[in-house]
Order: sequence, then C-alpha cells, then structure tokens
Amino acid sequence: MLNNDSDHEKLLRGAAEAAMRAPSIFNTQPWRWTVRGGALELRADRSRQLAVTDPDGRMLTISCGIALHHALVTLTADGHRPVVDRMPDPGDPDLLARIALGGEITPADVRLRDAIDKRHTDRRPFSDVAVPDAVVDRLRGSAEERGVYVAELGPRSMVRFQVTAARAGELDESDPAFQAELAEWTHRPADAGDGIAPSTAVPATPRTVPLRSFYPDGGERLLPGPGHDGGARYLVFWTTGDDPADWLAAGEATSAAMLEATASGLAVSPMTDVVEVPASRALLYRLLDHLGEAQMALRVGVPATPDDAPVSARRALSDVVDF
Ligand SMILES: Cc1cc2nc3c(=O)[nH]c(=O)nc-3n(C[C@H](O)[C@H](O)[C@H](O)COP(=O)(O)O)c2cc1C
Repeated sequence: MLNNDSDHEKLLRGAAEAAMRAPSIFNTQPWRWTVRGGALELRADRSRQLAVTDPDGRMLTISCGIALHHALVTLTADGHRPVVDRMPDPGDPDLLARIALGGEITPADVRLRDAIDKRHTDRRPFSDVAVPDAVVDRLRGSAEERGVYVAELGPRSMVRFQVTAARAGELDESDPAFQAELAEWTHRPADAGDGIAPSTAVPATPRTVPLRSFYPDGGERLLPGPGHDGGARYLVFWTTGDDPADWLAAGEATSAAMLEATASGLAVSPMTDVVEVPASRALLYRLLDHLGEAQMALRVGVPATPDDAPVSARRALSDVVDF
C-alpha cells in the first residue's frame, strides 16, 4: 500500500531506473525522465538523436517507446496500474508520455519484469533449433494489441530480405557521413556509459542474413560461436500509419516482443539498417505488399551457446532521471 507521496515518487523513480536498461539505437539512450506532480514524464532527448542515421527521429522515438514499455512493465510488476497519456501536449511533441498511478492491483507480468535485466542484444548467430510457433504467436498478439503488425519472413520472402539487408549494408558502408556517425558511437570515452563497445559486436561470419557491421575496419571482440542462424526467425514490425505516434507504438510492441522472447529463453537482436536506409525501406514496403511501413526488424532465435550475451553500458542515473 502507498502511504505517502514519497512512496509514490519512489515507485515512479524505480520504473524510470529500470527503463534505463531498455535497448536503443546505437545505445544512445535518447530519453529523459522527470518525476513531476505525482506523475512520471518521458521526453525525447533530441541532443542524442543521430542526425545522419535517423534524421526524422523514427529510431529515437522507437527507442523511447521501448523505454516506456519497460517502465510500465515495472510498475505493473510492482502491483500498480499505470495510466498512460501518450503525447499529451500537441504543443510539446517531445513530451512522449505522462504516466500516473491508477491504483493497486495484483502484481502481474513479473516474468517480463525479470526479463528487463536478463535481455541483452545478442549479435552472435543463433542455433539451428527451431523457435516455437507459440512464442511467435504471443509476440504477434501483443504487438497487435498496440496496433502494430508483425510480418514473418518465410521461405519466399527471405531471399528478398537477404538482398535488402545486404543492400543496406553496402549503402551504409559507402556513405562517409554515416561512417563518421557510426565511428562516433563505437569509439566512446571509457566513462560515457553509452555507445556500442567492441565486446558486444561480432565479426562478419557465414549466416542467413548479414547484420550491420559496427567496425568496418575490424575490432569486434565478441566470438561468433558455433551457430549459423539456421533456426532464427525474422520478424518485421509494421504500422499502417507512419507518424511519431506509430513509432512510439512500434517501440512499445518491440519491447513487449523482446521481453516475451527473453522470458521464453530465446535471444533477440534488432536489425534496423533495413528500415533506416530509404532504398531498403522501400524494398520492405514492397515485401509488405504496400500495406504499411516497416518500423523494426528483429532476429529471434535459440542461442547456440550457454554463455550469456555481453552486457552493454548505461549512463548515470542522475543524467537520465530528474527527481
Ligand atoms: C531502435 C533500435 C534499433 C537498433 N538497431 C540495431 C541494428 O541495426 N543492429 C544491431 O546489431 N543492433 C541494433 N540495436 C540494438 C542496440 O545497438 C542495443 O540495444 C544497444 O547497443 C544496447 O545494448 P543492449 O540491447 O544489449 O542493452 C537497435 C536497438 C534499437 C532500440
């Protein structure tokens, strides 16, 4: 039971702190949380937007949507019903959500709360063991509850997806502005608490669909292990609209999917170069039969080794949460 305002604030602050583990594009952590007037506010931090890779802020907003869902899962697991107002002020578009506490409930989703600390982007190839259909059905169901659809790439569309991913990689590789931005986020000061460390990136290796190359000149230090992605499944999250509210919803759906997969013992890695590069996104639009816009692509699989994927750094709590 909540006895006073400080208990209330502690809960909201705890949710913001848990949401710091959310994944984000290039590990930019482009969010800012404020506890104000008994509510928790989530703002986009535009100073951390990737000007070249993400000029519209699609990936920034998806990352914030993931953080929002992490905060909601935490409050629910603590036994409180969060009441969310998304994009509450049309005059202030960077205010993405305001969360209030709607009352106490039986704690739920504890599995997903535990998955927040267990989940890490795993860029190693997954094993040949098949991902159960039941898990993919659950991911699809939780996305659809948020107005986000999931297209699975089957044998017919897979070749086109492979070409799309390879093309995105080539275009990024030959773009000096992209390479400069990438280098900025792969070569961080030791105490920055953000960016992509060599210990989390794998060298290129034979696999079904190529992943983004974070260190084009070498330098990745994560061993790929014995897998070849034989049992991996590739899921494209898409929406019928394409504005910031759709991006925020896509982020929440992505978070629900990642946490559900993690809680089911699976590993996940996002691969969004196919969405960021306009020519590749256009190919995905055709793959989706012109029904909507791709927002996120996830590779989901059974890990090929028992070793956990490496943990990536996070910024200091005081840089992200205002009390
Ligand atoms: C919107 C978004 C896009 C991402 N795109 C990629 C990607 O294309 N390739 C990749 O290997 N990881 C991608 N990631 C994973 C991030 O690099 C990762 O979340 C971040 O480095 C933090 O690491 P963690 O997920 O292990 O906590 C993406 C994550 C998000 C949220």
